[in-house]
Amino acid sequence: MKVFCGETYEEASKIAASIIADQIKNKDNSVLGLATGSTPIGTYKNLVEMNKSGEISFKNITSVNLDEYQGLDGSHDQSYRYFMNTNLFDHVDIDKSKTFVPNGSEADDVKACDDYEKTIASVGGVDLQLLGLGHNGHIGFNEPGTPFDSKTHKVALTESTINANSRLFASIDDVPRFAYTMGIGTIMSAKAVLLLVTGEDKRDIIDKVCHGPVTEDVPASVLQNHPNVILVGDKAALGDNFAAELR
Ligand code: F6R
Repeated sequence: MKVFCGETYEEASKIAASIIADQIKNKDNSVLGLATGSTPIGTYKNLVEMNKSGEISFKNITSVNLDEYQGLDGSHDQSYRYFMNTNLFDHVDIDKSKTFVPNGSEADDVKACDDYEKTIASVGGVDLQLLGLGHNGHIGFNEPGTPFDSKTHKVALTESTINANSRLFASIDDVPRFAYTMGIGTIMSAKAVLLLVTGEDKRDIIDKVCHGPVTEDVPASVLQNHPNVILVGDKAALGDNFAAELR
């Protein structure tokens, strides 16, 4: 695992964006695996700037996102498709027909998940997968206990996630109960992984993920078995725990 540490969130975002930009410069038709959440927002801002200045082009890029709520279509402002459009795709020269997110409008979960695995295979697999990290070590919607060989599947959201999300919807009944997510096996098939972790609240979990046992109780610990992982963090998240590994 290669480890890079920025002083601040902004610096970590710049480092992550430059790694994605290098991937694009080296292979202009790369397949990028993308994530939502608060962590990558700064990275996407930097990529938008690099695109506007002409440093990188997304013209030949394909993207596949990690996950999506079941029951929300892309026009819903809480859907992950909407997040990707507003944070990245609407602002760069990407061909939106080559941006893929699990189909939240598909009620048949077996079909939605099979279709997504087929999509990933048909574009030749992921070259670089960007990941955020949950406080319990989750990646995508793969919560503790998810088998390491899982493929794209449907997950039931926990009560606490449903309650936390209810503030974003008109009523609690509107909050999605399920999501589709790439599985851990799907994520592990990416040729390279960029794990982005920022903030003091992630310090303990990222230490456990990288230095603790590889166990399904800590889903991201599986990345210790991946041959090509780059960890980018800020000082708040990495602290002194990675001093010996820093680049
Ligand atoms: C997002 C995703 C999630 C987040 C994780 C961290 O597509 O799959 O696993 O990466 O929950 O979220 P933030 O970045 O909001 O702390």
